[in-house]
Amino acid sequence: MKFSITSVLSFMALAASANAALNPIEVKGNAFYDSVSGSRFYIRGVDYLPGGASNFTDPLSSSDTCTRDIEYFKELGINTIRVYSVDNSADHKDCMEKLDDAGIYLILDVNTPKNSISRSDPQVSYNTAYLQHVFATIDAFASYDNVLGFFAANEVINNENTTQAAPYVKAVVRDMKTYMAAQNLRAIPVGYSAADISANRYQQIQYFNCGDDETARIDMFGMNDYSWCGNSSYTVSGYDQKVEQYSNYTRPLFLSEFGCNKVEPRPFGEIESIYSTNMTGVFSGGLVYEYSEEENNYGLVSISSSGTITEKQDFVNLKNAFASVSDPSGDGGAKDDDSPAVCPEMEEGVWEVNPLAGLPVMPERASAMLVSGAGDPSGTNEPPTQYGDSGDQSDDSNWDYSPTTAAASGSSTSSGSSSSSASSGSSASSGSSSSSSASGSATSKSAANPGAVNNLPSMTSSVVMLPLAVIVSSLLFGFASVVVV
Ligand SMILES: *[C@@H]1O[C@H](CO)[C@@H](O)[C@H](O)[C@H]1NC(C)=O
Ligand SMILES: *[C@@H]1O[C@H](CO)[C@@H](O)[C@H](O)[C@H]1NC(C)=O
Ligand SMILES: *[C@@H]1O[C@H](CO)[C@@H](O)[C@H](O)[C@H]1NC(C)=O
Ligand SMILES: *[C@@H]1O[C@H](CO)[C@@H](O)[C@H](O)[C@H]1NC(C)=O
Ligand SMILES: *[C@@H]1O[C@H](CO)[C@@H](O)[C@H](O)[C@H]1NC(C)=O
Repeated sequence: MKFSITSVLSFMALAASANAALNPIEVKGNAFYDSVSGSRFYIRGVDYLPGGASNFTDPLSSSDTCTRDIEYFKELGINTIRVYSVDNSADHKDCMEKLDDAGIYLILDVNTPKNSISRSDPQVSYNTAYLQHVFATIDAFASYDNVLGFFAANEVINNENTTQAAPYVKAVVRDMKTYMAAQNLRAIPVGYSAADISANRYQQIQYFNCGDDETARIDMFGMNDYSWCGNSSYTVSGYDQKVEQYSNYTRPLFLSEFGCNKVEPRPFGEIESIYSTNMTGVFSGGLVYEYSEEENNYGLVSISSSGTITEKQDFVNLKNAFASVSDPSGDGGAKDDDSPAVCPEMEEGVWEVNPLAGLPVMPERASAMLVSGAGDPSGTNEPPTQYGDSGDQSDDSNWDYSPTTAAASGSSTSSGSSSSSASSGSSASSGSSSSSSASGSATSKSAANPGAVNNLPSMTSSVVMLPLAVIVSSLLFGFASVVVV
């Protein structure tokens, strides 16, 4: 028997991956578990976007950057980071292995500033070029056991009148799960990270976990929540009411951003509540916003222009809070039930999604990638995909979601405003939403906010101009598909 260099190398590669420290995390009912030990897993993490929201950088493609920062992650005592954007053509092996060695999982948003579902024109932004980007990002990370999950999107719905983007985001969830299954990749959990919009936050969590199509339901739900400020408490912050309201939710919930900065330095007293049995029956921990000090002033550390790290008092406070609070024993009150939620009712100006309308159909050329694979990653230099993919023009992706919605509402004119450009200005503009978060501007601070494609030409509403016959047939079609399903 002859040994080639290649077979020795591939044997070494196998041995290396077998030595990986971390086991994949899996979802059962409303909690995360270590897939090998079976113990419950709570996210103790930070959001990691050095460079800030307005400056796209992929921190996992630079060994120098991640090696420097992992030392601080270890000192903080965290087990998870969230990264908002990566260059899917870059090499992430070194950083992913170093994170693994340090006992740290990754939650990765699959979008970039150029590739995302646009809240102001979701239909046009849902196209083959976009899905190619998403699938290639999955390909780039699926082999790492320490990928805890993917976020299909972040804060696309950022007020009461961007809810019509929800079916497109849910279609992306479905497409990602379908792609992983078709390509025989590990079924990495897929979730959505929501802005804290008091008017429809309950509808959001229900919607993403509702319906008969298991593949379209999220596996985990992150809430960006800044309701605990300063020396608050479990009841003053309103955490208690969220726990009560979501007590029957059947997927893991966690805080995908928290850490209000109204009072500084931040005392981080919420850590004690988040990992107490007051909350662990419903929530599975969370991620503090954010590791590095940027313009919006949420940093745990400052990074000088030469790359030197200085720990802020927030860092010390958070580290002490994590060190003094352990996870509950046993299952922490987790529930096994994973039945679907009830789809929220349509309500004008609150939740403008028809529960009977189904989801946009995957474009034909994107479906072909289920078999062929995504192909080469496009990286960060491609033109943006939010403005459409001309190759898709003749397929189902041009199906307009809105008419069905309008028909079902019984009011063909009411949703006329629905497809107008609802998101104005920058991603930070959602401070004017009726978010109950104590820090009003808190909801859209994150990088690469996938809804943050603005200044798109305002799409003239086709809804108001539709002849009655079309509306009626949409209604019939909607009804027919319900009967068939
Ligand atoms: C963006 O990040 C890069 C790399 O960290 C840095 O060199 C550059 O100065 C940053 N730009 C802005 C506008 O902050
Ligand atoms: C918060 O509580 C700490 C410890 O009890 C106390 O030292 C601090 O002054 C309080 N801060 C405010 C703003 O009340
Ligand atoms: C949760 O389910 C229980 C049992 O079905 C029910 O009594 C309770 O009202 C539900 N709670 C909420 C907040 O929906
Ligand atoms: C747990 O809930 C009780 C009742 O609301 C509250 O008094 C207590 O402070 C909470 N404890 C923590 C750690 O949140
Ligand atoms: C969307 O809702 C916000 C309030 O949340 C409001 O300020 C804005 O004018 C609305 N935009 C449209 C197009 O209706």
